[in-house]
Amino acid sequence: MDPQKWILSIITLICILGASVFMLSAMDSSSIRTEIIGQLNRVVPDGLGGWSAVFTTPTTATKSGENQKGKLLPVQVNLTTCLPTFGRPGKPVYCCPPRNMLDDPIVDFEFPDPTQTPVLVRRFAHRLDEESIAKYEKAVSIMRSLPYSDPRSFTRQANLHCQYCTGSFLQQHSTLPVRVHKTWIFFPWHRMYLYFHEKILGNLIGDENFAIPFWPWDLPEGMTLPAFYLNGSFINHQRDPTHFPPAVADLDFQLAPGGSTPEEQTDLNLALMYNQMVSGAKTAELFMGCAYKTGEGGDCFGPGTMERAPHNTIHKWVGSEFHTGREDMGVFYSAARDPSFYAHHSNIDRLWEVWRSTHPEMNDPEFLDSYMYFHDENRRLVRIRFRDVMDIDMLRYRYEDVENTWLAARPKPSVPPRLARREIREREERLELPGSHFGPTGRVLDSPVTVRVVRPREVRSRTRRGKEQQLEEILVVEGIDVKADDFVKFDVYVNVVNGTIMSPKYREFVGTFVDIPSGSSVGKKITLKLGISEALEDLEADQDRAIWVTLLPRTENCNKVIVDGLRVEFTRK
Ligand code: C2O
Repeated sequence: MDPQKWILSIITLICILGASVFMLSAMDSSSIRTEIIGQLNRVVPDGLGGWSAVFTTPTTATKSGENQKGKLLPVQVNLTTCLPTFGRPGKPVYCCPPRNMLDDPIVDFEFPDPTQTPVLVRRFAHRLDEESIAKYEKAVSIMRSLPYSDPRSFTRQANLHCQYCTGSFLQQHSTLPVRVHKTWIFFPWHRMYLYFHEKILGNLIGDENFAIPFWPWDLPEGMTLPAFYLNGSFINHQRDPTHFPPAVADLDFQLAPGGSTPEEQTDLNLALMYNQMVSGAKTAELFMGCAYKTGEGGDCFGPGTMERAPHNTIHKWVGSEFHTGREDMGVFYSAARDPSFYAHHSNIDRLWEVWRSTHPEMNDPEFLDSYMYFHDENRRLVRIRFRDVMDIDMLRYRYEDVENTWLAARPKPSVPPRLARREIREREERLELPGSHFGPTGRVLDSPVTVRVVRPREVRSRTRRGKEQQLEEILVVEGIDVKADDFVKFDVYVNVVNGTIMSPKYREFVGTFVDIPSGSSVGKKITLKLGISEALEDLEADQDRAIWVTLLPRTENCNKVIVDGLRVEFTRK
């Protein structure tokens, strides 16, 4: 492209971005997004084609993200343009780097050399010794002192999370934003993020053994905010002080105080962990979230067990009750401004390893070949694929061994199953339960709703047990429309006969839907998938023709949530 055209393209782009920022205050988030993307579409193809051509894979993709054979492509980031976005409704944000990232040298990721690199050990945050805390604190304070122009600075690190949760960058071959929540990208993207963050911190204090700690909120001795986060450069003023130690974390946080004793809260947390890590997480999709690929055809909104809770609930629990959305931790665009974010995610990453140790490897090529960019400790922009982060031995870090006590916390039915099933059969004769599809307008979750859901024949017969064991039965809550892009939580129960004792402590609980504002998914319907095979066995309902499913609203704004319906499907484990 000749220099005149270049300058013209750049000036046009600056004008458009300027005008877009101005319009932000006057328009709502979805219309502004469509507007900005529309404008860019008109400019980017010929104006900046030279840039985007640099890092596209040699495929002939269509706008929908498919190659010629109609197969969906891996997700790749288009770095040419960083867009102004919304952190939550009414909150325009601009999390972009101060200059175009393509001006920095880009290198492909290389594994650390095992002969030169020590294995970093991420430790139990509450057991860190004074010296390690002091080193970590110093690293964070240096990071905070770096200027915004430096990609290693604390604000730039925090904004990186903002970019990928609010949709600052578009996908290659598509006009859709890159999102790192509510899909299977959740785990690998956050792993990469922590990996580079940790390397930068270590480099800033010249300590090649430096590792970030993990906050094991899932274990009884780890269920308080690690106390050191209340001091020095770890301080963040947008946290809820009533949740400072010794308050026991509520992994099932639903805004209102639970009113339980520390012991009761601990038991509830362990039972919830069992559901989210074991009984509800038998397949990759259930645990990690839906299969996200490039373009319309690959766009999906279906967070896995861990992401919904405890991940989302802990975010909310830490954030401040005096700030909208319980910022900082309570809303994604601001969450990584809180230093405790990184120990929270280090634990999420550890739990991914725990899950991976007993489940088959992810082998979907579009998953493995998706790639992202991060600045490393030398300020180079590194292009890294998901397949590069599937083995943490290769990345040269590990987690201190801990005993995952929740493995033994399998919940029991609240009512003896035989009594419950007799009661249900009696009621079925008397009551006309609504069917599991709510018709064209859906059902508003302004109050608890119980429906009868018929199960497919394939999962019902005990005589086919051998085969059946390979099948996981999945309860699907379809078309969840979270109108408000607000914190929303509702729980799902099966075969409840005593509505006064509904809690994750009991086996009737099969999962929870928890959504946090992310700015980038306004107006999209979410699918909730819950693995129920183990729960149905424990409830002795695994041969029944149908189950009763109750959706129980837990936050007030569920009155703005609409659900299309429920059904049961099954999949191979
Ligand atoms: Cu990207 Cu805990 O969120």
